[in-house]
Amino acid sequence: MAIVSLAGVSKTYPARGRDSADVTAVDDVTLDIEAGEVFGIIGYSGAGKSTLVRLINALEPATAGSIHVDGVDITALSERELRGVRGGIGMIFQQFNLFSSKTVKANIAYPLKLAGWSKTEIDERVSELLSFVGLADKARAYPEQLSGGQKQRVGIARALATRPSILLADEATSALDPQTTHEVLELLARVNREQGVTIVVITHEMDVIQTIATKVAVMEHGRVIEQGDVFDVFSRPQNPASQRFVGTVIKGLPSPAEAAALRARHSGRLATFSFRDGDSSQSQVLLDLAQAGLEFELVYGGINDIRGRAFGHLTLAIRGADAEVDRALAAIRQHAEVTEIDQQEVR
Ligand SMILES: Nc1ncnc2c1ncn2[C@@H]1O[C@H](COP(=O)(O)OP(=O)(O)OP(=O)(O)O)[C@@H](O)[C@H]1O
Ligand SMILES: [Mg+2]
Repeated sequence: MAIVSLAGVSKTYPARGRDSADVTAVDDVTLDIEAGEVFGIIGYSGAGKSTLVRLINALEPATAGSIHVDGVDITALSERELRGVRGGIGMIFQQFNLFSSKTVKANIAYPLKLAGWSKTEIDERVSELLSFVGLADKARAYPEQLSGGQKQRVGIARALATRPSILLADEATSALDPQTTHEVLELLARVNREQGVTIVVITHEMDVIQTIATKVAVMEHGRVIEQGDVFDVFSRPQNPASQRFVGTVIKGLPSPAEAAALRARHSGRLATFSFRDGDSSQSQVLLDLAQAGLEFELVYGGINDIRGRAFGHLTLAIRGADAEVDRALAAIRQHAEVTEIDQQEVR
């Protein structure tokens, strides 16, 4: 069952000055997020990711379309009713957004106080949350006494306090180093697994998607240009714009500048072969080239791992008579994806 469902959703901000135009931050987005999923939303800066999150969270009204959260059309609700919907959605942020004058305990207790919980209930819930996020010894500390990773753990505890069914994470690890990012992602994965919370992660970091997301949507200019299973979208993006975006975040595909450098450094034909988990084409390509009597050199490549499934790209410089190389590449194209660098459009 979809816990969040968007149909034809748009958000337009009116022009500010006389010379500026309206900004359509979210443009006709249709999207279903299943309950219990970790759903990633990626795209370049300005693509509309944060705006989409604010629409789901009912922090801003949509200009068009319908948004269902837990089966309720939130575009039709009053401000009072919306408060109830927001209570079912937790949110964490890049800058943590903790109250600096409140202790860790008071930060986590804050939404519970707003919701009218009793002191005993609050104490019990806060200690439960503190031990869940591994900060039982920091109840009396102030945010400034914590590391970035610890602050985000407090952010997660606070977001989960009222037992929401959905957690929205907007660039929640973008201010953290790679090791700390990994720890926070582990915690989010645990929140999803152990508490069944549906998580929506907004990020520009491939690592984040690769580590915890099961589904992903790629946004550009306010639109969702591609969505699906993370492995499919990253290993074989269909839309040219998402190929461009995915190409910048995965390993093994040379960028235009790298392709130009390879071209300058190596003689022969440069061809990139793409592989996915489960096909044996990787060794077959090398075998085919060797059997055709062609000389080749591995000049670029990389393997990506998405929760145990691999895909990758190998670029080879192939030397031999043009006709022979053509024949070998034609044979290889029968079982593998081949892109010649000279013929490839600039990515
Ligand atoms: N309150 C606002 N008023 C006017 N324009 C806005 C407002 N909020 C966002 N925009 C515009 O909407 C577009 C999408 O912005 P948004 O913040 O959603 O992008 P994003 O994908 O989250 O980018 P980033 O990766 O940089 O966070 C941008 O062109 C932005 O300038
Ligand atoms: Mg943003």
